[in-house]
Amino acid sequence: MTDQKATNVTWHDGEVTRADRFNRLGQKGVTIWFTGLSGSGKSTVAVAVEKALHKLGKLSYRLDGDNIRLGINKNLGFSAEDRTENIRRIGEISKLYCDTGIICLNSFISPYREDREQVRRLHEEGGYNFIEVHVNCSLETAEHRDPKGLYKKARAGEIKNFTGIDDPYEAPITPEIVLNTDEMSLDEEVEAVLEYLQEQRFLILYR
Ligand code: ADX
Repeated sequence: MTDQKATNVTWHDGEVTRADRFNRLGQKGVTIWFTGLSGSGKSTVAVAVEKALHKLGKLSYRLDGDNIRLGINKNLGFSAEDRTENIRRIGEISKLYCDTGIICLNSFISPYREDREQVRRLHEEGGYNFIEVHVNCSLETAEHRDPKGLYKKARAGEIKNFTGIDDPYEAPITPEIVLNTDEMSLDEEVEAVLEYLQEQRFLILYR
């Protein structure tokens, strides 16, 4: 838990409510959190889900590990402490997206269970839904894919603390969705996410 540092600060409410914003957009905000090894397919599936949602007339926005680390989180590295702070900040940002009414698609390795649970609690306390998606594939497959050549570097000792090699990955225990990207096609993965959103009534017109 990060301590509150600033004192004498109070929350200031506006006059346009969350329901007003959801009504304006015709949709409800929600966070879909893709977690998994580097190379598991998190970003690929998030990009495809974003495209599918756009076609359905739903506004979504992707927050992606690499992109975020080039901007707001450029001062963070890959120590356990920095990864926790990375996820904490993204949790807060996605909560703001939820409050706006946007479907927030997050792809982060987010290797620590407790960090993800913290983000879930943050959402649930605020009355927002948090959907955890385990983008599951074997280390063997991820390493074989090695889209950025990083596993090769990690094996050669050129990158330290690389998730799955010399840093841990704690898989979710009860995620809302599991995508076995070893076996599923991208279309099947998108379908599984959309089906869940449909069941949970996130794809209907909000009014
Ligand atoms: S997280 O662990 O803090 O959630 P995040 O998803 O933001 O990680 O960033 C992961 C991306 O950073 C990987 O896809 C990879 O491109 C790059 N990266 C660089 N160094 C490492 C490392 N030591 N471990 C994992 N990913 C790394």
